[in-house]
Amino acid sequence: MSRQQHGVTCLVFAAAAAVLYIRLRRAAQTRGEDGSSESEPVPRCIGDGVLGAIGNTPLVRIASLSAATGCEVYAKAEFCNPGGSVKDRVAVRMLRDALDSGALRAGGLVTEGTAGSTGISLALVAPALGVRCHIVMPDDVASEKSATISALGASVQRVRPVSITHPEHFVNVARRLAAEECSAHGHGAAFFADQFENTSNYKAHVDTTGPEIWRQTGGKVHAFVAGAGTGGTLAGVASYLKRVSGAKVACYLADPPGSGLYNAVMRGVFYDSVEAEGKRLRHPADTIVEGVGINRRTANWALCPQLQGAFRVTDAEAVAMARHLRHADGLWVGSSAAVNCVGALRVAQALGKGHTIVTVLCDGGSRHVSRFWDDAVLQQHGLQPPPRGTELDSLLTHRAVTQGEVGRAPN
Ligand SMILES: Cc1ncc(COP(=O)(O)O)c(C=O)c1O
Repeated sequence: MSRQQHGVTCLVFAAAAAVLYIRLRRAAQTRGEDGSSESEPVPRCIGDGVLGAIGNTPLVRIASLSAATGCEVYAKAEFCNPGGSVKDRVAVRMLRDALDSGALRAGGLVTEGTAGSTGISLALVAPALGVRCHIVMPDDVASEKSATISALGASVQRVRPVSITHPEHFVNVARRLAAEECSAHGHGAAFFADQFENTSNYKAHVDTTGPEIWRQTGGKVHAFVAGAGTGGTLAGVASYLKRVSGAKVACYLADPPGSGLYNAVMRGVFYDSVEAEGKRLRHPADTIVEGVGINRRTANWALCPQLQGAFRVTDAEAVAMARHLRHADGLWVGSSAAVNCVGALRVAQALGKGHTIVTVLCDGGSRHVSRFWDDAVLQQHGLQPPPRGTELDSLLTHRAVTQGEVGRAPN
């Protein structure tokens, strides 16, 4: 080999070694193994117990909705959390913040008044954080829920359903119990989690759900849409995405029947026509959808930045979307996730082709077998799923949202 050939060979080897080094270093950074501070925070492969399994959920592409709209429609698969819902993130954050601030001490008691997923999530994470858990719920809630919470080791108190203004309402009972425990055993003996007014809920989404969406889309997200129950998810994710994108990500509300939020976004007042004087239904939100829709300004909702619009979603649309997702995409979701996906469809239709839209699959279908996924119950609500295979067409042609408005909020 001539000296010149030798020089070229050396150069080629050096270049190849440099490329290999850069590739290996990038791979290590992606896996978070090299401890370098410049690497993006990435999901850890190994987490501590149940707490380490919360969050970093997959972002799934919904192929059927993407194909139908010419957009990329993605959703956070929150049913992958160990407690089966988005509320795991909130439960762990509320308890950690309470323990850090001294509002709750080790071995103390967390109480919450809830008929939903938050009770299950609190019961799940409480032992891992060294606290006890007591959940108060109305006695007309499906018995699987109280059985699950008991099986997780928490105590459950079922009380008769009364108005929120009544001292025996389940939320008021949970609050009083924590106060009584503190008067008997001192500050920090018990903590009322209060997911509606406790802004640790919002912070959980600012610090986890929002950054995950940004990272998983590589910052290529045009819009986010979700319903609101406490408002924590929408307010937290919207706040983060707006901040990190310089307000470029458009954020929208998807609202079920009976909720006052649509009007809060579109007209600045909490009001729904079913709430009008003399028209009030037995249940303020007489809808098959559970978990989303509110009629008051919670502390978490109050942190929501200005939204670009809102979409009303009917029960029939939620049912059609859930049935469609099950057979077209293999996604078996709960009612609030179905509302969110109708919202994603409406946002895609409003923005037009070429946009990336993200929403949240709050929980899976298994928690809704006895209601939302029971055709006999749907029938009692005057609901009939469209024939199999026609659901998406029915949703696409029914573009005009119930109230005839494709919601763009006033600035
Ligand atoms: C099943 C389900 N989906 C959605 C939500 C709404 O989320 P957020 O409370 O963050 O508004 C809730 C809230 O309780 C819920 O239980």
